[in-house]
Amino acid sequence: MLVSATEMLKKAKAGHYAVGQFNINNLEWTKSILLTAKELRSPVILGVSEGAGKYMGGYHVVVGMVNGMLKDLDIDVPVALHLDHGSFEGCYKCIEAGFSSIMFDGSHYPIDENVQKTTELVKAAHGRGLSLEAEVGSIGGEEDGVVGMGECADPKECKAIADLGVDFLAAGIGNIHGKYPANWKGLSFETLDAVQQLTGDLPLVLHGGTGIPADMIKKAISLGVAKINVNTECQLSFADATRKYIEAGKDLEGKGFDPRKLLAPGAEAIKATVREKMELFGSVGKADE
Ligand code: 13P
Repeated sequence: MLVSATEMLKKAKAGHYAVGQFNINNLEWTKSILLTAKELRSPVILGVSEGAGKYMGGYHVVVGMVNGMLKDLDIDVPVALHLDHGSFEGCYKCIEAGFSSIMFDGSHYPIDENVQKTTELVKAAHGRGLSLEAEVGSIGGEEDGVVGMGECADPKECKAIADLGVDFLAAGIGNIHGKYPANWKGLSFETLDAVQQLTGDLPLVLHGGTGIPADMIKKAISLGVAKINVNTECQLSFADATRKYIEAGKDLEGKGFDPRKLLAPGAEAIKATVREKMELFGSVGKADE
């Protein structure tokens, strides 16, 4: 059964480790992530962006697929199904469809509007037993070739949003979605420290987990980060393994074109990436604690 992410992240913050949010795109992604979590006895959060939800056919498709896998693959570790960077309307759709957690990304609204919309969604989510993530300070990234550096959150605004009863908070600390540019200045630990001082026990979320060096990940966890989002890195490892299979001409040998064979190296590559991240984040074995 799906669970909200509240308990697993409270435990992670208290135990000084982080739970990975791995974004899913299809059945192979979902299966690889869930089987790795089960094998490593790690709690896990499946992230679904609005675009990925649409790609998979809709939120009900996603909920049906994930619930089916939990049952048929006997996944007995805590799993949350979480909307990633949800719009106000998207959050309501996922609450209705059966997600167990949502993120409302109100970071592009003026702070008063972010507060008002987050307040309403906290009520709606908690009323149905879901956890809610809010965001302050935008996460940068590449869009149409323009690379944003990632804006640092204002700790006072983080405190204002934290006080609304959100379950965990994404604060921009110079992190960026996608690959980091060569001139990236690194994470702002001063911002993270200031945010944690004002928000206390609230689990903090680090987006843009792809390509952040291990020492920065460890330091971020020591300063209160309890959830780390990874998306691009699984996409890169899947694409790389698939490219190798095809470049080696394996799809032309025997029944190598069978999708179950063609997609297998990519699915295995996702498992290896997820394993590496769970080990780095310290969540291995925590499902049973
Ligand atoms: P990356 O694609 O950089 O790993 O970021 C993932 C993320 O933060 C999803 O919200």
